Amino acid sequence: MGLIDNHGRQINYMRIAVTDRCNLRCFYCMPEEGIKYVDKSNLMTYEELLRITKVFCAEGIEKIRITGGEPFLRKDLMQFLQSISEIPQLKKIHITTNGTLLEGKVNRLKELGINSINLSIDSLDKDRFKMITRRDDLDKVIHCMDEILDEGLELKLNMVVMDGKNIEDIIPMVELARDKKLSVRFIEEMPFNGTLGQGNKSFWSHKKILSHIESKFPALEKLVDPPFSTSSNYKINGFAGDFGIIAAYSRTFCGTCNRIRLTPTGVIKTCLYDNGIFNVRDIIRAGATDEELKTALLSALGNRSKDGFEAEKKRASSPVSESMATIGG
Ligand code: 5AD
Ligand code: SF4
Repeated sequence: MGLIDNHGRQINYMRIAVTDRCNLRCFYCMPEEGIKYVDKSNLMTYEELLRITKVFCAEGIEKIRITGGEPFLRKDLMQFLQSISEIPQLKKIHITTNGTLLEGKVNRLKELGINSINLSIDSLDKDRFKMITRRDDLDKVIHCMDEILDEGLELKLNMVVMDGKNIEDIIPMVELARDKKLSVRFIEEMPFNGTLGQGNKSFWSHKKILSHIESKFPALEKLVDPPFSTSSNYKINGFAGDFGIIAAYSRTFCGTCNRIRLTPTGVIKTCLYDNGIFNVRDIIRAGATDEELKTALLSALGNRSKDGFEAEKKRASSPVSESMATIGG
C-alpha cells in the first residue's frame, strides 16, 4: 500500500493551508495592504477538510502540516486539530506558524500529540523584524519560541534569507542553536509576490548562505539528512541545536519530493510551483463519494511533474505570482 507517483516517489505528506489570512505582512509574501482574501464561503469547511484528510490517510498520507496564511487566525483550529489527531493512520501533525497568536496554547498542542512546530522568524532584531513583517511583534514570537522549548516540542525556525534585509541575522540565528535545542532553517527566497527575480546577483543561494556561515564556523559537520528532507543539514561542534539550508528556489530536492498541498479553497497541488491539479472542495460539493475522491488523487499523482522547473513550465499562466499565504508556505 501507499501512494507512489509516476516518477516512483512515495507520497506520504500533505500540507493543508487552513486560511489565506495573516496578521503579519512579510514583504516577500504580501503587500502592505494585504492580499484580496477569499470569501469565507469559498474556504474548505472543517468537515470537508476532515473528510479529505481521512480519505487520503487511508491511501497513504502519514504526515500533515497545518499552515496558512497564519493557521491560528482560523476560528476553532484546536478542535480541528483534535479531530485529525484521532485519524489512526496519521503519524505526525506539524504546524507552521508565525507564533504571534500562540501564547498559552502550546501545552494544549502537546496534549494533542503535535510534537513539532516551525516558527517563521526572519530577524532577531526588533527594527529589522518590523521592517520585514511590517508589524512590531518580535517579542511575541520570541516568547512563543521559549514556550515551545519549555514544553519540549521539536522546534524549527524558518528564516527567509534576503539581501539588504536580514543578512546580519544569519550568524546570530546560527548562534541561537548554541544553547537551544532547535533547528534553524535558512530558506532561499522565492520570487512570489512580485519580488525581484532571483537571476540577479543579490540573490542568496543555498551555496552562498553556506559559505557565509562557513566563514564564521569553518568546522561544520554535515549531518545525514532524514529521508524526504528539503533541507541540507549541518552541526557545529558543541552546539545543542543544528541548522539547515533549504534550496527553495534552486529546487535541489525534487527527486525525493513526498508531498502534496491543499490550499484554503480546496485546490490540490502536487508541486509548490504548479497551478493546481484539481479542486476537492468542488467535487465534494458536487456530491463525490470517497472512492471518487481517491480516484482524483491517484490520477493527479499519476501525472506529476518531475520537478519544480517542469511544474513551473507547465503552468497555464506564466509566472508564479501568487502569495505563499494562498498556497501554504
Ligand atoms: N520565499 C521563501 N519562503 C517563503 N515563505 C513565504 N513566502 C516565501 C518566499 N517568497 C516561507 C516563510 C514562512 C513559511 C510559511 O513560508 O519562511 O516561514
Ligand atoms: Fe504571514 Fe507567513 Fe506570509 Fe509572513 S510569510 S505574511 S507570517 S503568511
